[in-house]
Amino acid sequence: MAFPSKVSALLLFASASAALNLFLLLPSLFPSPSCPTSSPVPTKVGDHRMPEQIFPTSDDIKWIRAQIHGNSLPDPSNSPHVWHSLRKGINPRTREQQLEDLLRFKGISHYEDAGNIHTDLPCPGELLVEEHHSNYGEPWAGGRDVFEFLTSAISLQPSDLVLEVGCGTLRVGLHFIRYLDSGHYSCLERDELSLLAALRYELPSQGLLHKRPFILKGDDMNFSRFGEDSSYDLIYASAVFLHIPDHLVWVGLERLALKLKPMKGRIFISHNIKFCSRIKKECPMKLEEIGLEYVGNHTHDSLLFNHYEIWYEFRRSVK
Ligand SMILES: C[S@@+](CC[C@H](N)C(=O)[O-])C[C@H]1O[C@@H](n2cnc3c(N)ncnc32)[C@H](O)[C@@H]1O
Repeated sequence: MAFPSKVSALLLFASASAALNLFLLLPSLFPSPSCPTSSPVPTKVGDHRMPEQIFPTSDDIKWIRAQIHGNSLPDPSNSPHVWHSLRKGINPRTREQQLEDLLRFKGISHYEDAGNIHTDLPCPGELLVEEHHSNYGEPWAGGRDVFEFLTSAISLQPSDLVLEVGCGTLRVGLHFIRYLDSGHYSCLERDELSLLAALRYELPSQGLLHKRPFILKGDDMNFSRFGEDSSYDLIYASAVFLHIPDHLVWVGLERLALKLKPMKGRIFISHNIKFCSRIKKECPMKLEEIGLEYVGNHTHDSLLFNHYEIWYEFRRSVK
């Protein structure tokens, strides 16, 4: 008796799955006239990203949280001891230890012919262990926040032109270089170590050499080497003008005003514009003299850490 009842159960299961398959197939066999059969965007399930989306969406944040929790990873700890107790990798190293190893073994090799040079662009160990990521005190990750903020503030397009004053080790600049078309990012920077980090490590290791950024050494706000025309859509200085003497700031702004695209172009300066807060009432007059107009200030948040920063926005005077 058990055998026939098994057969009828199998038959029942087979006809049920055939019915289900037919039900699932029907919409594709007879598409509804009011629904498009294919949609150009989004391309992936759950992907609501617009092509120009710069900031992570709330879906992105939900997704990454789910990845963290799905892997049963702990929440961040306030105690460095607890955090460091998680370091159980093979041969765990601090930056200092890693640097020591690199210097001692002249690189890394697990093989006999360690003496042969296999390197086209030899890079100092200090850069390889990314010491320069903390050269200026602010977390490296903040570079992405600045990029997202500035890009969104002026709806920057990849074909636009950007000039950075004091790009340092390219903490912010890297994101612009990646986003912009080749040759559309320029920077004037005075510090040799920062330039070495940018050119000898960051651009090659981020695969951005093909973007041909135009990075020049200089500390005198001389932008003549960047060409004569007024073409920049965005000129920005992140944490730079507060370190520069007032007279040089004004010289710089006057020259930068001339390099800004009329109407559309914007200058953004972060942190305090101490030169303006000190001279207060004179400031608008001085700005007018050099052909700039103060548009307003903005703040932005950081995705990964608590951060409050003020940005001042300028454009060319209309008159
Ligand atoms: C605090 S760091 C910020 C670096 C980068 N903008 C960032 O946000 O990571 C200030 C930078 O401005 C550069 N700087 C200061 N005075 C300068 C000048 N007169 N001309 C060009 N760069 C200058 C410094 O060398 C340094 O790299």
